Amino acid sequence: MKFILEAGLTLSLFLSPIQADVFSGTVLVRDLSYIDVVAHRGASGYAPENTFAAFDKAVQMGADYIELDVHRSKDGELVVIHDSTVDRTTDGSGKVGELTVEELRALDAGSWMGDAFAGETIPTLDEVLDRYYGKIGLLIELKTPDVYPGIEEEVAEMLKERNLDRPQDEEIMIQSFNFESMKKMKQLLPDVPIGVLTSSRTDTSDEALKEFATYADYFNPQYGLISQTLVDRAHAHGLKVGSWTVRNRKTANLLIAAGVDAIITDYPDYVR
Ligand code: G3P
Ligand code: CA
Repeated sequence: MKFILEAGLTLSLFLSPIQADVFSGTVLVRDLSYIDVVAHRGASGYAPENTFAAFDKAVQMGADYIELDVHRSKDGELVVIHDSTVDRTTDGSGKVGELTVEELRALDAGSWMGDAFAGETIPTLDEVLDRYYGKIGLLIELKTPDVYPGIEEEVAEMLKERNLDRPQDEEIMIQSFNFESMKKMKQLLPDVPIGVLTSSRTDTSDEALKEFATYADYFNPQYGLISQTLVDRAHAHGLKVGSWTVRNRKTANLLIAAGVDAIITDYPDYVR
């Protein structure tokens, strides 16, 4: 669907947040609602990544999904944090997998980004599912699943307990850089969309795309790999394309022009 906006000015596709085709004095503004806006680690440009503050901000900004990273604590709880250590994003130190959930929850995961966020904590996956399912889509990334044997079964069980393992308009998706883990995930949860993440050009060959399409629904390359040709080839293999991590409007516009289906960004407002 397209809207025609009469305007006496010239807009450039790559300079404007509005996607426009320019004719003499007439601007065609494209409806971009077909693109899923994924708030990377929540709206992490505005609030500390992988915290309720960042996830709440994403909901408030109207993103379609929050993306979140999952590790496992020493005592077996699935927790939401990006790095394998707590050093960068909390006031503590040490490996996530060597701390209990109680120890992890005692850490301040917000102050590093500003006093206004003091007291933010590392959420558990349970808490995120309970608080956000139904409010916003969830893109769950399994971080280094090889370090946490059995994590695929645990995530699958958690979703099944909540009846979230059935087709529900892609409200839950799972992704990883670990392709074997995602193959396993598809076997465990055949109705949940699976994404493969990559920053490697070797994973963009037709042979690689064909293999991904045997178990994945989304091909999610780093934005530097994206071209319209790659998006078209992925689509021809039946894969949707999500790309990351957008931190400026110019990159968002390039991805939109290339025809991606989802944009994973720290700044949800840069896409629409
Ligand atoms: O969702 C894509 C992106 O999250 C992958 O990179 O390091 O931010 O988890 P990273
Ligand atoms: Ca991630």
